[in-house]
Amino acid sequence: MQFIFMGPPGAGKGTQAQILAASWKIPHISTGDILRACVVAQTALGQKAQAYMDKGELVPDELLMDIVAERLKEPDAAAGWILDGFPRTVPQATFLDKLLHELSGKGAANTGLKAVNLDVPDDILVARLLSRGRKDDNEETIRRRLQVYREQTEPLISFYGDRHQLVAVDGDRAMAEVTAHLQQELAGS
Ligand code: AP5
Ligand code: MG
Repeated sequence: MQFIFMGPPGAGKGTQAQILAASWKIPHISTGDILRACVVAQTALGQKAQAYMDKGELVPDELLMDIVAERLKEPDAAAGWILDGFPRTVPQATFLDKLLHELSGKGAANTGLKAVNLDVPDDILVARLLSRGRKDDNEETIRRRLQVYREQTEPLISFYGDRHQLVAVDGDRAMAEVTAHLQQELAGS
């Protein structure tokens, strides 16, 4: 079970990944959560990442790669995982391919990986985020996060689609309905 959860800010990646990872007893690995923990702990990485996150920009790829490589090598990740918010650029996706090949010996397109894209209209995303109110949930930063998603992350839909690894899901439904749909689509992967 190797799943990537993609989608714009507020699409429900974290919400759904948390529920499904608990149900399948695999780790939920959110690069956003890891980076926020580094910011709180004021590690060197957290100090570098904070300015990007506050502005709604992506943290540079090279800062993410070690984090993800180390995390996927942990024993609890051997049976599978849900990656939430990674990859979100083409270089990150290419890096993940190489890493999975290194860890499994299989080619990138043959690892059983599935990439879920949660689709939700912009006005709903903005309303969800403004009512949540995380540090980066203010109108200006939300607008930038959406723009960055369109420019840098959306190309991954065809990256995984071309390899028949994409699962497109309508995320603009009640949470439990989205969960049930994902459970059905991903069961047996
Ligand atoms: P990250 O933490 O990944 O944030 P994001 O992509 O902006 O997405 P969110 O966490 O805001 O939304 P979500 O899709 O998880 O939605 P959620 O379930 O919370 O990244 C933050 C920053 O870290 C980035 O801007 C970047 O700087 C950096 N970063 C992280 N990863 C990186 C990477 N790989 N490379 C470079 N930089 C990186 O739901 C949102 C709200 O909606 C919640 O209140 C929830 O309760 C509600 N909700 C969810 N589903 C529903 C539903 N079906 N109906 C109604 N409400 C719902
Ligand atoms: Mg999230």
